[in-house]
This record gives sequence, C-alpha cells and structure tokens, in this order.
Amino acid sequence: MNRVYNFFAGPSTLPLEVLQKMEKDFVNYQGSGLSLIETSHRSKEYDLVHNRAVELTKELLGITDSHTVMMLQGGATMQFGMIPMNLLHSDRFAAYINTGAWAKKAIADARKVGNVEVIWDGADNKYMSLPAISELQIPGEATYLHLTSNETIGGIQWQEWPDTDVPIVADMSSDIMSRPLPMEKFGIVYAGAQKNLAPAGMTLVIMRNDMLDKCASNLTAYLSYKTHAPKNSLYNTPPVFTIWAFANVLEWVKENGGLEGMAVRAAEKAATLYGAIDDSDGFYRCPVDAGVRSKMNVVWRLPTEELEAQFIAQAKGVGMLGLKGHRDVGGCRASIYNAMPPSGVAALAQFMQDFRRNNG
Ligand SMILES: Cc1ncc(COP(=O)(O)O)c(C=O)c1O
Repeated sequence: MNRVYNFFAGPSTLPLEVLQKMEKDFVNYQGSGLSLIETSHRSKEYDLVHNRAVELTKELLGITDSHTVMMLQGGATMQFGMIPMNLLHSDRFAAYINTGAWAKKAIADARKVGNVEVIWDGADNKYMSLPAISELQIPGEATYLHLTSNETIGGIQWQEWPDTDVPIVADMSSDIMSRPLPMEKFGIVYAGAQKNLAPAGMTLVIMRNDMLDKCASNLTAYLSYKTHAPKNSLYNTPPVFTIWAFANVLEWVKENGGLEGMAVRAAEKAATLYGAIDDSDGFYRCPVDAGVRSKMNVVWRLPTEELEAQFIAQAKGVGMLGLKGHRDVGGCRASIYNAMPPSGVAALAQFMQDFRRNNG
C-alpha cells in the first residue's frame, strides 16, 4: 500500500488500523447484510456504536454522570453561537481570551448574542504568546470564561489552565484527546471531529451538568442543549458514519495508552520537529513563544517565501502532504495529531535536514 504522510490541519490523518477495520466492516456490517451507514439510527447495531462512543469519551476523560456527552452537527463553528445562545442571558456577560484566529471567531459570534468582555488579547504580540496564568484577571461574575486550547493556525497551545471558579468553556477542536484534562475545571469542552476524533461531520460537546441546568429553554430545537442532552444526541438523525469512526478512534486511543499515552506520543513527536527547527542554525524559525509551542500544529518559516514554496513542493514530491501554512499567515505548518505516526515526523525531520543542506 502506498500511503503518504498527511500533515493536513483537518480533515487530517486517521489511524490506519481504524480505516482498515472500517473498510473490512463497511459493506456488510458484522454480518448484518447491510452497511452501518444504511441502517436506522434506532437499530440495535447502531445503538451499540453510539453508546460505545459516549462511554469511551467518558472513560478516557475520566468523567462520570457529572457530565453529559453530546455528539452534534454544525462543526465547532456552530458552538461559537450555540454556547452564548444557551448561556449568555441578557443580564450577564462572558469573559473571552483572544489568542488568535479561532478565538476571534468565537468572540465575534458571542458578541452578536450578548455581552462579551475580552480579558486578554494577544494582538500586541501578533498572537504568538499566551498569558501567564498569574497575569489573568478573571471577573468572578462572568457566566463563563472562553478559551481556545490550541490555536490551529497560529500554532500556540495552552500548557496549564486558568485558576478560577468561573466555568471554563474550551474550544479543543485541535487538541482534544491528546492529553489528560482536569475536567472538573471545564463547564464545556467542545471540538469539531475532523482532527483528533473522526472524519468531519460531528462536534463533540461535553457539558458539566450544572451548566446544562443554566441553559436557555426558549431556543429552537436543534440550537438548544436541553433538546439533545436528555435524548442522548438522538433527537434527530445523528451523523452515523462519523460517530462509527469516532468510536473506533477512541478504541484505538484506549489501546494505545489512553490520554497519558497520547500525551507521551505527542511530546516525543513535537520534540523531534522543534528539534529539527532549533538545530538548523536559524534556517528554520518558529515564530511562537517557546513555552507555548503547540504539540499538534508546528509552524515555522524559512529564509524566503521562495524557499518555502520549494520546500512544500519537494516534500509533496516525496510523499509528505499538507505542509503549507494557513493562507492567512503563510510559512509552513505540520499538523501532527494523535494519528500521525512517529515515523512520519521522523521522515519530515530528516527531510528538513536534507533540504537545509541542499539550500542553506
Ligand atoms: C481551533 C478550531 N476551532 C474551530 C474550528 C472550526 O471547526 P469546524 O470547521 O468544525 O466548524 C477549527 C477548524 O479548523 C479549529 O481549528
């Protein structure tokens, strides 16, 4: 089989074992005579998959009945609006931390719904840094504190969590399930599936039940968490294919050491790539503050844009795809989510050395 290394930021690489398992089961799901994606979402076969996904989410994150797991649609983008619609009642305000491209989108949508106070903004440092925990002034009356745990475009990632009793609402689209989390701190964790969880089509929303109690009751059905939570995300037709893949990916995470295992794997891969950058005598340059470099999306520049274009084209020629930085920032980016094998990162680091030798 001739598979390339896929460094795209999302949709992104999935564990090969998962793809192969799904291929085997695809046409005739476990001998049922039809594919799971042709089966009713009320069937016994699908029910087992659906509940397994919820169960594994809770098991891996170490949560119990204190939290509700929802598998929704509309991407993380839908959550930018749904969260304030449900929680930002008119006499209240929410605190937001602006760390870059994705945080900005969350803030813009929340502002359309209610009162927002941006308590920290990384603009002065071009969104290349994060606040020290001690620097944050979090108003105790805020309904929630929103942050983006990993800025997929900027390549910065929170390493520790704000110390506050205000419930943290976190967009974890690009680093969910890559490390253990102190879930008691989080009122809501949400993530689009298409990076660490599954193909596109599902958004994971994990809500602490005290937050659920505070949600609005006057929203249209789909926009209301109070619709989905008591129905176990089966109020309407769920994205069965994505949830099937999601359940399989979670099994893979469990078999590979759970979130502790993923954290070790991520740290080793990130160390290899940042090592290749830092040991290049300035040929490669990571613009991000060293203490907050992302272990999921590694960004770097070369001496000129021409060299960057050559680097990306030559890497593609040897089977390494998706290394172009986001169009808003340029440069190079390697997305090294859970499913990226260490061999892919080693191959990229070697390519970086060779490219520098030939062009430095
Ligand atoms: C951190 C972050 N938040 C939100 C989104 C938007 O997700 P979706 O496309 O699922 O709406 C992305 C997509 O890349 C992301 O990286």
